[in-house]
Amino acid sequence: MKTFPVLPLFFLATLVATNQASDGAVSHQIHLLRPKTGSHGSHVPGVSCLSWRLGVETHNIIGWKTIPAACEGYVGHYMLGHQYRKDSEAVIYEAHLYAKSLNLTNDGKNLWVFDVDETTLSNLPYYARHGFGVEVFNPILFNEWVSKSTAPALPESLKLYKKLLALGIKVAFLTGRPESYRKATETNLKNVGYHTWETAILKDSSYAGKTSLFYKSSEREKLEKKGYRIIGNMGDQWTDLLGTNAGNRTFKVPDPMYYIS
Ligand SMILES: *[C@@H]1O[C@H](CO)[C@@H](O)[C@H](O)[C@H]1NC(C)=O
Ligand SMILES: *[C@@H]1O[C@H](CO)[C@@H](O)[C@H](O)[C@H]1NC(C)=O
Ligand SMILES: [Mg+2]
Repeated sequence: MKTFPVLPLFFLATLVATNQASDGAVSHQIHLLRPKTGSHGSHVPGVSCLSWRLGVETHNIIGWKTIPAACEGYVGHYMLGHQYRKDSEAVIYEAHLYAKSLNLTNDGKNLWVFDVDETTLSNLPYYARHGFGVEVFNPILFNEWVSKSTAPALPESLKLYKKLLALGIKVAFLTGRPESYRKATETNLKNVGYHTWETAILKDSSYAGKTSLFYKSSEREKLEKKGYRIIGNMGDQWTDLLGTNAGNRTFKVPDPMYYIS
C-alpha cells in the first residue's frame, strides 16, 4: 500500500492560514503539482493522472472506489498544493459573478445550497494524515475526526458564503452526514465562520440505503415546496448537483479524493 508522506504542517500551511493569505505566502512550504513525464505515474498505459482527474471532475469517470494506486501521490500533491486552491478559486469566482448578476426579488426566498464535506468544510487534515486512497479510509477514525468539529473551512467557499449573505441570499447546508452528527457539524461550521444559515439538513434514518442522489434531490424538492428558489447549488460530488430540483445553476468544486453515488 502506498502512503503519502505529508506532515500535518503542510495542511496547516495550506488551509488554516488562509483567510487573507495570498498563495505566495506559503508557496515554499508546500508541494507543487508536479506531473511526472510520460505516463504521469498512472497504472493504465497511456492514461495520465491528470487525465484521470479531469475525467473525474467532468463525470466521465464514475463509480470509482479508489484513486488508482499510481495516482495517490499525484492526488496528494494536488490537494495540498496550489492547483486545488486555484481550481476552487476559479469556481468561486464564477459563482460570485453569477450571483451578483441576478436581479433578485428581496423576499428572503432566494436560496443557495451548499454541501458540507469538501465543499464548505475540508477534511484534508484527516486525509493528509491517513492517506488519500480509499483503502486507508476508516469509518471509525473518520467519525472521530468529524466529532472533533475541527475541520477547517474551504477558504474560497467561506468567502463566497459571506458574499452571498451580503447579497441577501439565504444559505442552506445539505449534507450526507447523519443526523447524529448535527451538533458536531453545526459547531464546526460556526467555529470556522459560517455563522448563520436558513436550514442545515443532515441525513435522517428514513434515507437509510438510499443514494445520495435520491436523498439530496428529495430534500431540495422539499425546500422548493416550502417556497424557496434554489438559485445556486454547490458541491464536490456530482450527486450533489444532478437529480431533480438541482437549482438554477450548479457549481462543482474539485474533489479527486473520493466518489459518492
Ligand atoms: C430588477 O427587478 C425589478 C423588479 O422586478 C425591476 O423593476 C428592475 O427593472 C430590474 N432591474 C434590472 C436591471 O433588470
Ligand atoms: C430559475 O429557473 C426558473 C425556472 O426555469 C426561472 O423561472 C427563474 O427565473 C430562474 N431564476 C433565476 C434567478 O435565474
Ligand atoms: Mg461533499
